[in-house]
Amino acid sequence: MVLFGAAGDLAARLIFPALHHLNRTGLIPQNFRLLGVDLADHDTASWTGELVAKLDPADAGQDDASLAGLLARMEYMRGDIGEAGTYRRLRARLDAIAGSFGTNGNVLFYLAVADRFFAPTVDFLAAAGLTAQTDGQWRRVVIEKPFGHDLQSAIALNRRLGQTLDETQIFRMDHFLGKETVQNILTFRFGNGLFEPLWNRDRIDHIQITAAETVGVERRGHFYEQTGALRDMVPSHVFQLLALTAMEPPVNFSADAIRRAKADALCAIRAPTAQDLVRGQYRAGTIAQGRVAAYRDEPDVAADSDIETYVALRLSLDNWRWAGVPFYLRTGKRMSRRTTEIAIRFKDSPMAPFAQQDLDAQGPNWLVLTIQPDEGISLQFDVKRPGPLVERAPVLMDFKYKDWFPPEPNVGYETLIYDVMIADATLFQMAEQVQAGWRAVDSLLAAPAAACHPYRAGTAGPAAADRLIRPRTWRNLTGR
Ligand code: BG6
Repeated sequence: MVLFGAAGDLAARLIFPALHHLNRTGLIPQNFRLLGVDLADHDTASWTGELVAKLDPADAGQDDASLAGLLARMEYMRGDIGEAGTYRRLRARLDAIAGSFGTNGNVLFYLAVADRFFAPTVDFLAAAGLTAQTDGQWRRVVIEKPFGHDLQSAIALNRRLGQTLDETQIFRMDHFLGKETVQNILTFRFGNGLFEPLWNRDRIDHIQITAAETVGVERRGHFYEQTGALRDMVPSHVFQLLALTAMEPPVNFSADAIRRAKADALCAIRAPTAQDLVRGQYRAGTIAQGRVAAYRDEPDVAADSDIETYVALRLSLDNWRWAGVPFYLRTGKRMSRRTTEIAIRFKDSPMAPFAQQDLDAQGPNWLVLTIQPDEGISLQFDVKRPGPLVERAPVLMDFKYKDWFPPEPNVGYETLIYDVMIADATLFQMAEQVQAGWRAVDSLLAAPAAACHPYRAGTAGPAAADRLIRPRTWRNLTGR
């Protein structure tokens, strides 16, 4: 594995810990080598030292033989990814590694670098003969997000990669698909006979997808000023949740069939208009950690910035399953609580069964898939409150992952990296999926930006979002 951006944040926070976990569970082969490439002034010892220092202390015992074994298989190569010479040296080193460690010349190139380097790096790799799959060896390329910044740039990037790589060599990463509970949506829907008959316009009133964060833009003000919440979260992460919720059952469980069905769901999104969108930006406020600054006071953010840190969106899907069922999506930073969930609101019963109660007294039926932080699935329904009076009370049937399965150290990249190694593309996006995601929001990106409503940090977002969802209401961020 060649890791470009080896001294960067992603490598230390997610990729290296994931490799460490995979190695500990015996999923990294003995002849694996990791070659880190970066411009930073390191040698192998200082690079690995820094990675280990940044590991979660609970994850790096002193006498961890597995960690020592992994470190012994890592080496650092200082190099500029913008120079052809780097790739010549890389090629020589990879040939030597193939000879000494029996890797068969199989290489996974991981581009943990800023998106402007994706296409040039792949071009350099190809020009140096590093992407050719000859003599039974494989060459794969992992590309992180953002994959383009609108439809046109995504198409252009796909085309450019397609000039030198076969589609089967490209692994477009969306780290939301590495989350266990996201992967579980498929099993939950299609591995049980119970839910699928209810999963359509006949029984479902609407669906809410929420990805609320308490963090602000952190040190990424510069990136965020070019991006905003709509581009950063919606066509990628939020649409992955939407696609898994809305897709038709795949004809089989092959990567192609699943990805095709997901792409079809995204293609069914009717182009939203400005009336379907609410943008917001956080002002100073208080969250659990204490007082936090306004977005405009974050480093590298313009004092009069109009970039959104919150977005709410109302979407319709034009297909037989979902015609008439609104999907409400929202995502934001500095909200009151971190929670990512898919909440399915079922239709009310057609009449009030109890003479003394009207329909308004009826509690809603919700099925909620909580992606994070309390991974689980809950079903809300009404029961009779004990006692002589016929009174209804809403209750929750609550499955929590942690109650059933012992938690394993997991940063969410383990499955994804392992899947690239075994060439299982199910959890990676094909070109068409990425384009369908961008196409669905392109009308919004192309139009002049709608007003950006301020909201206080530590709240549920701007009041304008409540108007968007009327006559319905957003779920409380505490999960009720
Ligand atoms: C990233 C976005 O892709 O996903 C960030 O760029 C966001 O802005 C992050 O905070 C959310 O991921 P997670 O796994 O922390 O929910």
